[in-house]
Amino acid sequence: MQNASQLIGADSQISHWHSFESQESINQAVLKRILQAADSAIAARGSFSIVLAGGSTPKQVYALLRHADADWSKWHVYHNDDRCLPADHADRNSLMARQVWLDHVAIPANQIHDIPAELGPVEGAKAYAETLKGLGDFDLVLLGVGEDGHTASLFPGHTWDDSVDAFPVFDSPKPPAERISISARRLSQAREVMFLVTGAGKQEAVDNWRRGVAIPATVIRPEAGVDVYCFGVKLS
Ligand code: 6PG
Repeated sequence: MQNASQLIGADSQISHWHSFESQESINQAVLKRILQAADSAIAARGSFSIVLAGGSTPKQVYALLRHADADWSKWHVYHNDDRCLPADHADRNSLMARQVWLDHVAIPANQIHDIPAELGPVEGAKAYAETLKGLGDFDLVLLGVGEDGHTASLFPGHTWDDSVDAFPVFDSPKPPAERISISARRLSQAREVMFLVTGAGKQEAVDNWRRGVAIPATVIRPEAGVDVYCFGVKLS
């Protein structure tokens, strides 16, 4: 059971809100939306590009994708950000996705594009910008939201460089301080953008978002607007 509503928020981000009554129902709805996006992209263009959210929220959905029936040979996987830690560090977003999903399905290895964050913020961002060069719109971008309203590694009160596709972060308030993020502009070049927001800890960020406060999540502005899938937060 979900209910949906639309808002035009800070500086005209169009957001479609979907609230769910259980973790299971939101997980299943997000899984279904991802697989539908893949089917339509593959039917239309022969491939599917997805940008993964980091953090802990998407882990259960990634674990469900491990058992999904999909044409994995056509999937191209990217990450919206990662932490500048060794590739095998438990806090790496890319490692989490590999452990619960990507290492267990037949996506060709050269179609899984981890951010080389182990190179450090500057070198890693340069290398990832090269990886993204020449790609068209992403088919689907998944994003999380932090308690302070950040998304990817776009943090409140920080400036970020939108002239590049990927940029270094040296002073993240969410540890570790050094990260690499795809830029707001590049994340917005997407056919579909879905935010996954769960837990009471995100209530203030959601309230601010829906009140039109310009939290970083509002700078993601794809043409079709963004879909915000919520569980455990009230939509007033
Ligand atoms: C990261 C993420 C970050 C995350 C939010 C939500 O590397 O930390 O990219 O933007 O999505 O902080 O994190 P949770 O899902 O753990 O609440």
